[in-house]
Amino acid sequence: MKLLEIQSSVRQEGSVSRTLASKFIDRWRSYNPDTQYSLRDVGVHSPSLITANWVAANLTPSERQTEDTKALLAESDTLIAELVEADRIVIGVPMYNFGIPANLKAYFDNVIRVGRTVQYDPDTGAFNGLLTGKKALIISSRAGSYAPDTSAGAMDFCVPYLRFILNFLGIQNVDYVEVPNQGGSNEVQQQATEAAIAQLMELAKI
Ligand SMILES: Cc1cc2nc3c(=O)[nH]c(=O)nc-3n(C[C@H](O)[C@H](O)[C@H](O)COP(=O)(O)O)c2cc1C
Repeated sequence: MKLLEIQSSVRQEGSVSRTLASKFIDRWRSYNPDTQYSLRDVGVHSPSLITANWVAANLTPSERQTEDTKALLAESDTLIAELVEADRIVIGVPMYNFGIPANLKAYFDNVIRVGRTVQYDPDTGAFNGLLTGKKALIISSRAGSYAPDTSAGAMDFCVPYLRFILNFLGIQNVDYVEVPNQGGSNEVQQQATEAAIAQLMELAKI
């Protein structure tokens, strides 16, 4: 069993999503001691932004790849290999300006590649995600509260996008724990955090 944590908070000190992801992973590992754990810290080490040369290299058929095009795709290849190997994926994601952190978007721009992680049928225009058989958990901290069943839920472009992009890659089994109200009073914040931890401890059992 391989568990990959993708962490996207730019904060290392005081990060709620990092702390809660660690709590989940510690509990998960106590139930699954053979787990091989790895961390892709895009919050601290942002993947490169894709460029016109990257796009051209990505569209170059394998028999016409050169040392230069291969070098341009090397980082993306590493990120894809790591993702393909993972059975469980835990994504720590703060809401930034109602969406995902730009570093995490750069990560998905690197790992979404036709023929590698998604298949495209030019006749029907349909995409098929190739990363099947994996399970993901999204842990998203935010100052406000954007529960899907509330009117504020419509302002959450973070988790609905993430869910969509994971499904697009073929990852259909996605759990989500919101860590809301981190901008509230200490008491409100603590209550929300404890409720999220309780959910995570339950999810670690399955
Ligand atoms: C640049 C930036 C933008 C943010 N935008 C939002 C936002 O749109 N909505 C919200 O509820 N919280 C927003 N927040 C608050 C964070 O989501 C919240 O503090 C969260 O706990 C940060 O995650 P972390 O503790 O793991 O670093 C923002 C924080 C930062 C630094």
